[in-house]
Amino acid sequence: MPSDLSPIDKAKFVAAKQATTYVQSGMKVGLGTGSTAAWLVRCLGEMVRDEGLRIKGVPTSTRTAELARGAGIEVISLDEAKWLDLTIDGADEYDGDLNLIKGGGGALLQEKIVATASDQMVVIADVSKQVETLGAFPLPVEVIPFGWQTTKTLIEESLIGMDVLGNTTSLRMNGETPFVTDEGNHILDLHLHRIGNARQLSLVINQIPGVVENGLFIDICDSVVIGYGDGRVEVR
Ligand code: 5RP
Repeated sequence: MPSDLSPIDKAKFVAAKQATTYVQSGMKVGLGTGSTAAWLVRCLGEMVRDEGLRIKGVPTSTRTAELARGAGIEVISLDEAKWLDLTIDGADEYDGDLNLIKGGGGALLQEKIVATASDQMVVIADVSKQVETLGAFPLPVEVIPFGWQTTKTLIEESLIGMDVLGNTTSLRMNGETPFVTDEGNHILDLHLHRIGNARQLSLVINQIPGVVENGLFIDICDSVVIGYGDGRVEVR
């Protein structure tokens, strides 16, 4: 373990390190995005270099692709891989049913496509991501730039009568300009505080024209590897 890690980084590191035990030579592995997934990529890079691990990695963002190449991992596209043995990714929230909110890093679209195209999805997270009910973390929704304000209004209207506690929506910014995803889209963050019926909400949001995908991952994750600040790890 690297020395001088803060408790939160130690928790992320130990979760990532533990998740490498799911990876075997010959596998095609989806590589998530974010600070926890970055630890995973570094750990896998070390195993490629020092232990002869042979994997093909499918990154879920340009950031992860750069990191993986730099770590010595062979990178291929999802179209080259077609189907993956395993995806390992972080999350912004996970609940007791292993449903997730993802997209805090803005990569939810590729993350959902890659995870869905995998035999198994393993989430790595520090324990602060654990919630009883999803929704304290703002729900990211990727929308196309054309008419995004109309899409925002339609999303807000669709929330009326839904089992949520708030309905404000903000356009994610990158300084003075709207954040742009790898696919050239924008992100609307939905401040819902509590999502009572995540499955229903996901279906409703995805039916709105202009919405590309939302950050609710329902029935996609198979296991969560949870890291603690004292170095303990738990698998659920
Ligand atoms: C990126 C994601 C990340 O997995 C999520 O934001 C968690 O990030 P971190 O590991 O940095 O806390 O969904 O789109």
